[in-house]
Amino acid sequence: MAEVEIKNEGKTVEIPDGSLLGELEGKCAILFACKTGSCGSCKVRVVEGMENLEPPNEAEKIGLETFGTDSKERLLCQCKIKKGKVTIEY
Ligand code: FES
Repeated sequence: MAEVEIKNEGKTVEIPDGSLLGELEGKCAILFACKTGSCGSCKVRVVEGMENLEPPNEAEKIGLETFGTDSKERLLCQCKIKKGKVTIEY
């Protein structure tokens, strides 16, 4: 299992290795409005562990060009965790 620490909620959620971070829906306060990478509601900043995430897919790249402000941001509904631990904040 991989771990996602949500820094500003003070909690860590376990999800299966290789799964979409959209698995966090309902397990944290982050809103997943579209789940297609087009609304920006699930944008977070990766504090640690970016190396444990797969590179952005095409939908996430387009979303980040629209909603992102720096290279540490990701859209949870589109990005997959490989394994290990990632720390995020929003
Ligand atoms: S839920 Fe809309 S971009 Fe992720």
